[in-house]
Amino acid sequence: MKKISLIFSALMLCLTMTACGSGEPASAPSVAENDKAAVQGKLNKSENKTETVASTDDDKQSGTTEAPAEKPEEHTSDGTNILVAYFSCDGENYNVGTIEKGNTQIIAEYIADEVGADSFHIETVTPYPASYQECCDVAKQEQNDNSRPAVKGSVENMEQYDIVFLGYPIWWGDMPMAVYTFIESYDFSDKVVIPFNTHEGSGESGTYYSIQSALPNAQVLDGMAIQGKTAQAFNSDTQQAVRDWLDGLGF
Ligand SMILES: Cc1cc2nc3c(=O)[nH]c(=O)nc-3n(C[C@H](O)[C@H](O)[C@H](O)COP(=O)(O)O)c2cc1C
Repeated sequence: MKKISLIFSALMLCLTMTACGSGEPASAPSVAENDKAAVQGKLNKSENKTETVASTDDDKQSGTTEAPAEKPEEHTSDGTNILVAYFSCDGENYNVGTIEKGNTQIIAEYIADEVGADSFHIETVTPYPASYQECCDVAKQEQNDNSRPAVKGSVENMEQYDIVFLGYPIWWGDMPMAVYTFIESYDFSDKVVIPFNTHEGSGESGTYYSIQSALPNAQVLDGMAIQGKTAQAFNSDTQQAVRDWLDGLGF
């Protein structure tokens, strides 16, 4: 843990010296054929389902964004079987100052809008401090303790979702512990889990492996990692990169 802290501190110093503009450009990761096939299998399955949806999210999108005109018919989802679950904090954060909406949340909302998913904001019963430094201290303690902070609310009818996008920031080289609380609270058997995360230099930091280890009966795909500052600016290039990634997955 000490090693990770040192690496992170060095990384932060580096970024302090180089950070400028709206962050590193986001680029769509390449998608493996079997990952695309896994998504397609679940999307096809959804065509046979009814449109009954139990929404679980206060932050659910209005769905006003128009789908791109060229979107192929077969890629359209009615949203009944896709969930975007994400952890994200507003307040003071590294490299972006004090923000009104978390970096990961910005990406989560875009994905939910684009694929027509329900969404669930993973929030802890005890909120994290708004101060970046205090938040870092609490997060580090939780990680050292391998704790499972209680999460507010729950996803009703988790069984209706075949595809779960899981969004989170990197905290101390890992997912926030509350994300473990969340994923360990449900049966993910036979679900396709698609991670996405924001970070300030650590990339996905081995979290795809951690998620798969925690959810051995789910199929965890490779995801997309975006610098937090880039996500916060969310310019058209970032939007396009996320859209390209979703296209690659077959949405
Ligand atoms: C407690 C804490 C720990 C962090 N640890 C890391 C880290 O290890 N590696 C990294 O690249 N960024 C780290 N960051 C930066 C966040 O990953 C980044 O700001 C992210 O975009 C925050 O997402 P959010 O606004 O959705 O919460 C950390 C930030 C916080 C608050």
